Amino acid sequence: MKVLNFGSLNVDYVYSVDHMVKEGETLSCHGMNIFSGGKGLNQSIALAKAGVNVYHAGLIGEDGGILLDSLKANGVHTEFVRNLPGKGGHTMIQVDKNGQNSILVYGGTNRKFTKEFIDEVLENFEAGDFLMLQNEVNLTSYMIDRAWEKGMKVVLNPSPYDEAVNGCDFSKVYMFLINEIEGAQMTGETEAEKILEKLRQDYPGAKVVLTLGEKGSVYQDGETQYHQGIFPVKAVDTTAAGDTFTGYFISSVIDGLPVPEGLELAAKASSISVSRKGAADSIPLREEVIG
Ligand code: RIB
Repeated sequence: MKVLNFGSLNVDYVYSVDHMVKEGETLSCHGMNIFSGGKGLNQSIALAKAGVNVYHAGLIGEDGGILLDSLKANGVHTEFVRNLPGKGGHTMIQVDKNGQNSILVYGGTNRKFTKEFIDEVLENFEAGDFLMLQNEVNLTSYMIDRAWEKGMKVVLNPSPYDEAVNGCDFSKVYMFLINEIEGAQMTGETEAEKILEKLRQDYPGAKVVLTLGEKGSVYQDGETQYHQGIFPVKAVDTTAAGDTFTGYFISSVIDGLPVPEGLELAAKASSISVSRKGAADSIPLREEVIG
């Protein structure tokens, strides 16, 4: 069983600020760092750090050397990462003094997937393999359809939620990993229990992990639910906390851990990432999480 991630690769330009810049305001920042990021890259690296054999398929631009190096350094298979001319994906991230962020994403080469490239990559995978997807690349709907036809298990983190992802056939999704905002966008409900109830009705075959910020997370499979609290830490930078949770939880599914243990592992890993700066760099190794 293999894991493929068709995912975004972003250079994160991170600015430390007192507060998020307001409309019309010019604000000086305290510092600036450049990190490897992108929801796709972060989730591949979280999976790899958790001990999973993961293949990343993605498109970097002329500025993407740092991203390829980062995937390789963390043991992610990179034979399906291609280099394209032009600007790659990048972000402008403000991190405030409470560790909270706001992110502006430029898609760049992340949005240049073609059906031919997707088909070519998928030829190397088979029924039972996992496909990880977020929503920072184009053709997500096509990726879901083709992977489902092959019998792959589609894991979808529909972030950021938009019209394109809303047009996907969610009945083909094996597992959703969503936060409350995405849950509300998918269902029109705002309360966690109602979001879960609507998802159970609409996609009865899908497992759901709903993260609730400081209130922890809930796993749902049909009528079965498990709840997990957070491990409180002083937040330094919340960037990639969700990606860390996703990678670690999926690693527990692949390893066949009981769901409560998987949720606990993911919550611990995510809390460690919150206590550190950066995206991929903040993701802990498995030894640190279980140690
Ligand atoms: O989920 C965090 C990621 O979102 C950042 O690394 C940034 O690149 C954006 O894609």
